[in-house]
Amino acid sequence: MPSGDTPAITVRGVTKSFPLGDGRTLPVLDVEHLTFAAGSCTVVKGRSGSGKTTLLNLIAGVSLPTTGAITVHDVNITALPEAERDRFRAQHVGYVFQTYNLLSAFSALENVMLAMMFAGAVPARDRRRRATDLLQRLGLGPRLSHKPHRLSRGEAQRVAIARALANDARVILADEPCASLDARTARDVLAEFLAVARDPGRTLIVVSHDDVMLESADHVLDMAMINRVPSSLPVVESVR
Ligand SMILES: Nc1ncnc2c1ncn2[C@@H]1O[C@H](COP(=O)(O)OP(=O)(O)O)[C@@H](O)[C@H]1O
Ligand SMILES: [Mg+2]
Repeated sequence: MPSGDTPAITVRGVTKSFPLGDGRTLPVLDVEHLTFAAGSCTVVKGRSGSGKTTLLNLIAGVSLPTTGAITVHDVNITALPEAERDRFRAQHVGYVFQTYNLLSAFSALENVMLAMMFAGAVPARDRRRRATDLLQRLGLGPRLSHKPHRLSRGEAQRVAIARALANDARVILADEPCASLDARTARDVLAEFLAVARDPGRTLIVVSHDDVMLESADHVLDMAMINRVPSSLPVVESVR
């Protein structure tokens, strides 16, 4: 459990470069030291291409840094084998992707229940009730059996939020969760997200430029301040 002054997340000496396939690499991220206090809500902002998604993917363990280490609740996730990293993420990290990533063959309810199945943290008999509760709290009570193509974008995003919260993860990451919604819907969805997700035991990191988020955050991180790679840096020759 989050306790005292121990940060929920520590990013230490992390760099990320992408190989371009022609012998060159593209440096994207160089973060010296970053901590996220347990229970805090941090908004990450920065121009397009400044490494926001890359940073979230690293914290989620979706990808590995080129150098450095990331610790999530005392687990050095960068040292875990891939299968264990996937399991750790399923149980401890909820991730709201910018583009929802819902499974199109499954209903709203099933999408949320499947996340519980993968993690195995919620007992099988409780999954339907818990998924229904979450979706109802996000205003989707009448949409439980809808597949993604029968949901509006705002509704699909609420399902993605419910899915990220399904396992009661201590860390919730959200990558511009409302960027593709109109301003009014974005405001509503973000307000609902905060109402459901904020909890003293939960650490939130949200990439957003929306006033609703900026105003309710404990901290605002600007990529221009934390990333030593300028967002317009050209590719470099690989050192071999
Ligand atoms: N898999 C990849 N291969 C090569 N370059 C990538 C890859 N993913 C991201 N990038 C590059 O890294 C930079 C940062 O991307 P990203 O983290 O998505 O930025 P942001 O989310 O802030 O817009 C961009 O220049 C992007 O083109
Ligand atoms: Mg991004």
